[in-house]
This record gives sequence, structure tokens and C-alpha cells, in this order.
Amino acid sequence: MEFSEVVKNRYSCKKFDGRPVEPAKLEAILQAGRLAPTAKNLQEQRIYVVQSEEGLAKLDQATPCRYGASTVLVVAFDKTNVFTYPGGKRDSGVEDATIVATHLMLAAADAGVDSCWINFFNPEELAGSLGLPENEEILMLLDLGYAAEGTGPLAPHSQRKDLSQTVAWM
Ligand SMILES: Cc1cc2nc3c(=O)[nH]c(=O)nc-3n(C[C@H](O)[C@H](O)[C@H](O)COP(=O)(O)O)c2cc1C
Repeated sequence: MEFSEVVKNRYSCKKFDGRPVEPAKLEAILQAGRLAPTAKNLQEQRIYVVQSEEGLAKLDQATPCRYGASTVLVVAFDKTNVFTYPGGKRDSGVEDATIVATHLMLAAADAGVDSCWINFFNPEELAGSLGLPENEEILMLLDLGYAAEGTGPLAPHSQRKDLSQTVAWM
């Protein structure tokens, strides 16, 4: 798919029909995350593919926002392997993981797989229930699957600000 079509077609799916994501599509999505740039090429992201009944039940305990997705990617990063920027106030962890997550989300759209970016959960509690190592922090969850029949983008999808409100020329 043309990139312009991918970004136009993508929307946040809030009701999945539960169908599984084909392994080849999931592989393509994960490979797109692998190719994301990271500061100093540290590649500190850690992606957990949750598909088991047990794993999905833990996610359902943590968030009301799985929406019946058959697959959820937990995007985390290794806090001990980040690049601290000059000035020492910020590091690359959240940024790098966000770029990876964006690649994953857009690759899903390219593969015709619906998705939703989820932050409505407590990352520390979820890391504990999933048994993640202490050095890892969860950034977000990416629901993946196929939209239930008759559902589609919600209203906010078509309510984007005009460029004049978000872009300034200097
Ligand atoms: C950083 C971020 C966090 C989000 N968290 C949630 C969430 O926890 N639950 C949810 O249902 N949608 C979540 N969304 C989806 C947004 O509500 C959605 O992207 C926005 O309303 C625009 O709609 P669209 O993605 O269909 O264009 C999140 C999106 C982003 C980018």
C-alpha cells in the first residue's frame, strides 16, 4: 500500500471480532518495528506478543481497552540501555519505544490489520502481573486484529486540526 494510503486508512479500532492475526502478517509487523531507528542504535525496545488465554486475561485485568483483540503487543524498553541526552534531563527510552510502536501500528495498517494504541493502564502493575524483568518499563499496548462487522472509525478520527493550528513557519 502507498504510505499516504496507510496513514489515511489507519484508525483506532474499538471493537474487534476476535479473529487471529495471520503469522505472516504478524511477522511483517514485528519486522517493521525492528527497522525503527533508535538513539545510538541502542534498540532497547522489548516487544511481548500476547495471544495466550492466560496472557490476554492479565491484560483484561489491567485495562478495559483490549476490545476483543486476539493479539496484543506489549511495547516495553530496557531502562538500563537508554541514551541520556546532553543536559541529563531526558533519555531515549520513551522516544525510541514510541517510534517502534508507531512502526508497528502503521505496518499493521499496511497489512490490513486493525489496531488500537492503548495507554489506559498502570504500567508498573501490568509489568508485575506479566512478570517482566525489573529493568523494563512498559510504554504502551497495541491491540491487533480485525474490526467487528459494522464498526469503524469513531468521530475523533475525522476531527483533525487544520495545519495552521499546529504548524508555524519561521
Ligand atoms: C498515545 C495514545 C494513547 C491512546 N490511548 C488509548 C486508550 O488507552 N484507549 C483507547 O481506547 N484509545 C486510545 N488511543 C486512541 C485515541 O483515542 C485515538 O487515536 C484518537 O481518538 C484519534 O482517533 P483515530 O486513531 O481513529 O484517528 C490512544 C492513542 C494514542 C496516540
